[in-house]
Amino acid sequence: MFDVNEIRKDFPMLNGKMMQNHPLVYLDNGATTLKPQSVIDAVVSYYTETSCNIHRGDYDLSFQISNEYEQGRKTVARFLNAEVNEIVFTSGASAALNQIAFGYGMDNLKEGDVILTTHEEHASSILPWFSVAKKTGAKIEYIPLTDKGELTVESFQSAMHSAVKVVAVAAVSNVLGYKNPIKEITALAHEYGAVVVCDGAQWAPHVKTDVKDLDVDFLAFSGHKLCGPTGIGVLYGKYDLLEAMTPMMLGGGANARFDACGNILLKHAPAKFEAGTPAIEAVLGLKAALEYLEKLGMDAIEEYEASLKRYAVEKLKELDHLILYNADASTGIITFNVKDVFAQDAASYLNSQGIAVRAGNHCAKILTEVLKTSETIRASLYFYNTFEEVDRFVEAAKNITVENCVGLFF
Ligand SMILES: Cc1ncc(COP(=O)(O)O)c(C=O)c1O
Repeated sequence: MFDVNEIRKDFPMLNGKMMQNHPLVYLDNGATTLKPQSVIDAVVSYYTETSCNIHRGDYDLSFQISNEYEQGRKTVARFLNAEVNEIVFTSGASAALNQIAFGYGMDNLKEGDVILTTHEEHASSILPWFSVAKKTGAKIEYIPLTDKGELTVESFQSAMHSAVKVVAVAAVSNVLGYKNPIKEITALAHEYGAVVVCDGAQWAPHVKTDVKDLDVDFLAFSGHKLCGPTGIGVLYGKYDLLEAMTPMMLGGGANARFDACGNILLKHAPAKFEAGTPAIEAVLGLKAALEYLEKLGMDAIEEYEASLKRYAVEKLKELDHLILYNADASTGIITFNVKDVFAQDAASYLNSQGIAVRAGNHCAKILTEVLKTSETIRASLYFYNTFEEVDRFVEAAKNITVENCVGLFF
């Protein structure tokens, strides 16, 4: 049974403390999520009880914390249904996606090769490939999206061809929230011998992830978008690909040996990608976050979010002054505009009513060409949001008018 009121008790920020002018309704979960007490405790406990470095000290405490860090890797592997040595800790999804593009792309792409992607990608998913394309002579091509901005198997099929060596796509767009057919895309991409790089930043927090079932070659996500700390992310890669990939960063912990002539013997994956002291407390916090999500159950989370989203959409559809861009997307992202009102003004009006949303292009700056608008307002739900909060959001949305936005800034 999914008891949201019980769940909310686990989140200190939801216990009456999150105030602006009003008790805050936090609907900016696509940007980052709130943290349950168990995650906060894991981070604090590291700093108060076990604040030693890992994999370096010859004493019990360092050994203990190294073990806990590696338990974190095991937890991520379980969460993704991956092997433990396929999990690399990074500083976030952006770092993971850059590592893949520069580490894999630079070594494997050449003039005439194609990187196939979409107009809905987040900057962190697509900009590394722009750069790699310039350096290698590879070309960027786009899978056509439907008028609504959906990525379909048919459109992928129409865009796929033998020169495509990399398919770089988000599993869920951070603007539109559609679940992309990653499994089908991957199966087809593999028929052509291409590798699939999946941006899972908006998928992993909301949908059960099984990398073996999806069969993606690489997947990236961030801890802070699924109740974990900032400064920690995950790069999943099939082991053989990781072993063959060049690390972007070299240093302590990543090498087995080096000599004065400049010869370097790197450790095996994943250690070779984790040079330097990592964000140890963030790994422990991520472990606690994933355990928390596992306890709730990813299927239950997905189902609850979908019901909240449906409820919100039904109510928002009644408001004639709103344009909804993704009413039928099943994840908890609601993207809209208010007729004749600048998106940022609308978001500021919602703020004045205690509703936290985001307005702008959401780092997906070329999706605006598909949506035919340069800015949208994004309300993004998570499992701790309630139907009452949706009601408050809808009530506030009713009153977004030019008149009500006048004077917000003075
Ligand atoms: C789809 C998508 N990809 C990548 C990122 C980058 O994540 P981070 O900023 O945590 O590195 C985000 C963040 O908003 C995102 O929504």
